[in-house]
Amino acid sequence: MGKRIIVLASGAGSNLAALTAADLGGRIVAVVTDRADAGALMRAEQAGISGDTIPYPAFPDRAAWARALEGNVAEHEPDLVVLAGFMRILPPEFVTRWPTLNVHPSLLPAFPGARAVEAALAWGVKVTGSTVHLVDEEVDHGPIVLQEAVAVRPDDDAGSLHERIKTVEHRLLPRAVSLFCADRLRVEGRYVRILQ
Ligand code: GAR
Repeated sequence: MGKRIIVLASGAGSNLAALTAADLGGRIVAVVTDRADAGALMRAEQAGISGDTIPYPAFPDRAAWARALEGNVAEHEPDLVVLAGFMRILPPEFVTRWPTLNVHPSLLPAFPGARAVEAALAWGVKVTGSTVHLVDEEVDHGPIVLQEAVAVRPDDDAGSLHERIKTVEHRLLPRAVSLFCADRLRVEGRYVRILQ
């Protein structure tokens, strides 16, 4: 039986599109966003996947929103949750309930947080990149599954650099998801072993 995958997204959804175009060895059963204007909803519709929004501002606080999100995700009985440009922090109960992968636009542990590309440019690094990691209770912190470097060019701005990082993400994220679906990831403390 193929694994059931839920994708959470907030943005344009280019990583979601890369996932829907790939052979994952599992099925994306739903896409859930925190905002009704997320481009990811259109990508889901184009791919024939059910899309839903749990709008953050509609709830009195983060805990109430997170409970609603958790309830929605639970209905789909996922084996894996994928954060594909999801820009909200999830509480510990959520991230410990299902295995969860996140894609982040830097070489973690450098530049965690919401504006990783801008932070890398501001620091003046010559190399940044993309990280796919398992999510734990701390933000942008869990065991690293895949990483790839991207060189910073002297004339880069955040837009141009982020586009090149996304090109890498569109390969790394589907690869990490397919490794999970094939039961090829073994977590040994902070180290993720990829089984042959
Ligand atoms: C991606 O670059 C992803 O790494 C980043 O948001 C972008 C979403 O793009 N995620 C974060 O910054 C999480 N901290 P997309 O909507 O086109 O897939």
